[in-house]
Amino acid sequence: MTGQIRRIRALCIFAFLFAVPHLRAEEPAFDGLAKTPPMGWNSWNKFACDVSEELIRETADAMVSSGMKDAGYEYVVIDDCWQVARDENGNIAPDPERFPSGMKALADYVHSKGLKFGLYSDAGTKTCQGRPGSRGFEEKDARQYAAWGVDYLKYDWCNTEGMDTREAYTRMSRALRDAGRPIVFSICEWGSTQPWLWAPGVGHLWRTTGDIQDCWECSQSWGGMGMLHIIDLQENLYPYGGPGHWNDPDMLEVGNGKMTAAEYRSHFSFWCLLAAPLMAGNDLRDMTPETKDILTNREVIAVDQDPLGIQGRKIHDGGAVEVWMKPLSGAARAVILFNRGSVKAPVSVSWEQIGLAPEMEAEVRDLWAREDLGVFKGRFVSRVDPHGVVMIRVQP
Ligand code: GLA
Repeated sequence: MTGQIRRIRALCIFAFLFAVPHLRAEEPAFDGLAKTPPMGWNSWNKFACDVSEELIRETADAMVSSGMKDAGYEYVVIDDCWQVARDENGNIAPDPERFPSGMKALADYVHSKGLKFGLYSDAGTKTCQGRPGSRGFEEKDARQYAAWGVDYLKYDWCNTEGMDTREAYTRMSRALRDAGRPIVFSICEWGSTQPWLWAPGVGHLWRTTGDIQDCWECSQSWGGMGMLHIIDLQENLYPYGGPGHWNDPDMLEVGNGKMTAAEYRSHFSFWCLLAAPLMAGNDLRDMTPETKDILTNREVIAVDQDPLGIQGRKIHDGGAVEVWMKPLSGAARAVILFNRGSVKAPVSVSWEQIGLAPEMEAEVRDLWAREDLGVFKGRFVSRVDPHGVVMIRVQP
């Protein structure tokens, strides 16, 4: 072998051993998962630590019987507090009193309903509720989740002193890939290190803010925030969401009781316009017709799930009134006419603002009234209730 060939061979081996593994986490989202924003349910917003296998089974049943599954909801995710300790071999163990049948049996049950199963862990030593975290056990935990049949992992950021977000999430991302089961990976570091800049290819979705609270406008000293504040924080993030990599403004509060129906409709409309993951956070076993009607509005969900996967954005700021727009496939646009104020107000959108020719004729459909409003030339105007939206689909 000539010296030159030897040098080329050595270079190739070096590239394979060092460069390739480091590039893996930068690949586009693995396994073609989350092509549209994930839809499902998560236990935290309503139940906090009061989780059990009974609750999860009944929730899976209710997801089917309520029509949520038919509307597109798929993942049933247990948040914090399912885990209590590690066994003598370091394996993570579910709470034996609350999950006596174990996680494999529970995952099997959820799968038998045609649904998918998700769990929660934390990159640090402990979860936010002080349960064992995955730090130092990433590969072991990922293999365990895969063996149980987990399809979705939410990975939190409490008790991570001295850790780097990108490194920690990349480590778990690799561990999940290596475990060999397609698992949607949900990053939850609350937007603290601008994950939209580094997380595409590491996870499929990333939280952009602190925890949502069931209120229009409120805040908690520990960082919890109202729905309106969360909407405002999404304004500049629209370039970063897309198929396989979504901005996550947190789970839904629809149906949890502290906002009005108009406010919950605004909440759901915005999450869909923002192409946000739709993780219901209410008690699916006990929904009012109004809550069910909001969560299963297929025309609004279709905006969220549009295959182009373009995140919507604000196109007009008029103080108390705003206009937001999301481009849809087929040259259509979803538009939210939003009234943040406390009195009914007219809100208008011109075709120019949404990228159409000023004189164009376009069909307008009201997605909450489920009504075709007719053909409009150049603009559309409507009176919008306080804290409410009029959400339309404009089809040129
Ligand atoms: C953090 C997360 C929440 C929830 C709790 C659980 O606050 O942001 O979504 O998972 O932890 O302890």
